[in-house]
Amino acid sequence: MPDLILALDVTEKKKALAIAEACAPHIDAIKVGYPLALAAGLSIAGDLKKTGLPLIADFKVADIPNTNQLICDQVFLAGFSAIICQGFCGMDSVKACVASARTHHGECYVVAEMSHPGGKEFFSGGIAEQIAANAVIAGADGIIAPATRPDRVAVLRGFVGDKKILSPGVGTQGGSVDSIAELVDGIIVGRSIYDAPDPAAAAQSYAAARRRQKR
Ligand code: XMP
Repeated sequence: MPDLILALDVTEKKKALAIAEACAPHIDAIKVGYPLALAAGLSIAGDLKKTGLPLIADFKVADIPNTNQLICDQVFLAGFSAIICQGFCGMDSVKACVASARTHHGECYVVAEMSHPGGKEFFSGGIAEQIAANAVIAGADGIIAPATRPDRVAVLRGFVGDKKILSPGVGTQGGSVDSIAELVDGIIVGRSIYDAPDPAAAAQSYAAARRRQKR
């Protein structure tokens, strides 16, 4: 059964914390991206830690190795348990994120292919496969792959073996739990939970849906 990960892209700190607290019993991790981190500061990690859930920093880190390491160190020192980085900057840049993750006993995930329509423009033609293979060689904990394209996730699974695949794009972007749950280790859901009239009920229903799947 894959984890259910809440993408908390809510820019009002009080609302974000209320949604996190309400959804916490139904989810396995919280993903924080630029929208919330820029609005509330990195210290949001300290506030969200009260849920007791792992916190994934989705900053899609994409710089030279030294800068990547400096960024990741700050993320982990703030209290996050995992970082998401881009793979297209090359193996050395990914390795720097992995090294920081190891130093801080955290995890590192590499974006292999993005979930939106434009994600096909530059990640196609074997690039995503190469990024996935490099993520394994670099020692990353897994990759990010699109729930909007289960066929592509199945292909990328062949490149990462038992490494984890976390998959955004379920709900608002059109991906479904039914078509992706057996292929991945984590399902990332944002707007379909935090924009729902009752976010906790929406989280509960996604949790139940993935429970019906085998993996
Ligand atoms: P929604 O509201 O569409 O939110 O459920 C999805 C969340 O996931 C992020 N996202 C991605 N992150 N690679 C990533 O690393 C992707 O391909 C990708 N697609 C969506 C998005 O920023 C939001 O937080």
